[in-house]
Amino acid sequence: WPATAARTSGAVTIGGVDVRELAERYGTPLYVLDEEDVRSRCRDFRAAFEGSDVHYAGKAFLCKELVRWIDDEGLGLDVCSGGELAVALSVGFPAERITMHGNNKSAAELESALAAGVGRIVLDSFEEIARLGALAERLDVRPKVLIRVTTGVEAHTHEFIATAHDDQKFGLSLSSGAAAEGVRRVLDQPRLELVGLHSHIGSQIVDTAGFEVAARRLAVLLVEIRERHGLVLPELDLGGGYGIAYVEADTTPDIKVIADGLREIVAKVCANAGLPIPRLTVEPGRSIVGPGGVTLYEVGTVKDVEGLRTYVSVDGGMSDNVRTALYGADYTARLASRESEAAPMLSRIVGKHCESGDIVVRDHWLPADLVAGDLLAVAATGAYCRSLASNYNYLPKPAVVAVKDGISRLIVRGESVDDLLRGQL
Ligand code: LLP
Repeated sequence: WPATAARTSGAVTIGGVDVRELAERYGTPLYVLDEEDVRSRCRDFRAAFEGSDVHYAGKAFLCKELVRWIDDEGLGLDVCSGGELAVALSVGFPAERITMHGNNKSAAELESALAAGVGRIVLDSFEEIARLGALAERLDVRPKVLIRVTTGVEAHTHEFIATAHDDQKFGLSLSSGAAAEGVRRVLDQPRLELVGLHSHIGSQIVDTAGFEVAARRLAVLLVEIRERHGLVLPELDLGGGYGIAYVEADTTPDIKVIADGLREIVAKVCANAGLPIPRLTVEPGRSIVGPGGVTLYEVGTVKDVEGLRTYVSVDGGMSDNVRTALYGADYTARLASRESEAAPMLSRIVGKHCESGDIVVRDHWLPADLVAGDLLAVAATGAYCRSLASNYNYLPKPAVVAVKDGISRLIVRGESVDDLLRGQL
């Protein structure tokens, strides 16, 4: 829950705003984002990684207003599609502080990144190295690039969000020699300025050992590149992936400890080889916007399935939060519109979609007097909920509202069914 979440006169308030007022004014389901929570996490990251660059990974959640906060707080921004780039540029985010990612950027996406003058492009394949080299020649520019290296680290997280073991689609493998070959190919492209290496081992990681192993392997590769090519690369981008708490029992890594550990490892490898210490970049997404987000739902039906549990249906579901269905993610919820002294009942919070995998919270104790019209709040939904939302069953995507100091502001309008019909012929 965001630090500002509290219970006053029975109902939950977030950022000083009563959830009943939010539901009344903006409707449900509703994504609520605690502005101060997001901003303070930006500051915490900058403080922990002082002397390094912190880039917010926009895939976690991106909209114009969030880009403004990120800019205000002095972070850089990672984008991984032309669409994300367009959002950033639409509010004048400085292109120099943008890094462009993606394992299959289209020629058009690469071209718009070059035209905008983004600070860094992370190259993910041999084809892309050639493609960007040719494009840069045609546009008469010389972009700064990094090579995404697959470090072979087995991150302890869900298979779909682990990205540094060898058998997955991202990057050029260190163990097979593809990464070293990538370096050679980039150096053969006079129009590409190789400034460093990149690694991202996965997401929602709480065991921080993997970050350190990956950092050490990248630093060792820096040393090898100097030996082989006589070239000193000035940058290492160590990706994101820092886990957050979804339920009370979850532990979270200490960002300051991670920062110190990474700096120390890189410094040691480089010092031993007489190499200057490279500038580090990290790319947190979830750990910036996740904890500050809460989704509000209205209960529609409460169905007791004899002897098993109670199914509580809410007015959204896997279209606004697919993480439970997709990754078996855990969430916690609370009755938010009133207080209840009723005994707890084992509940499953489900959505309104036409499949039984449409689960928001798999197992949860909710008060037994729950009725239609009650509001439920689900915690830690700021990351990868709105950004992964769909229109399954023609459900319009919910609005996003920012709250701060007792004031709420619409930052993304909710869709209407008319919006969904607009593109159809
Ligand atoms: N940098 C790169 C290159 C990435 O691919 C990602 C995430 C990040 C940074 C940010 O990672 P974070 O700090 O947010 O963990 N949809 C999944 C997560 C996919 C993450 C993809 N890449 C989920 O809902 O858990």
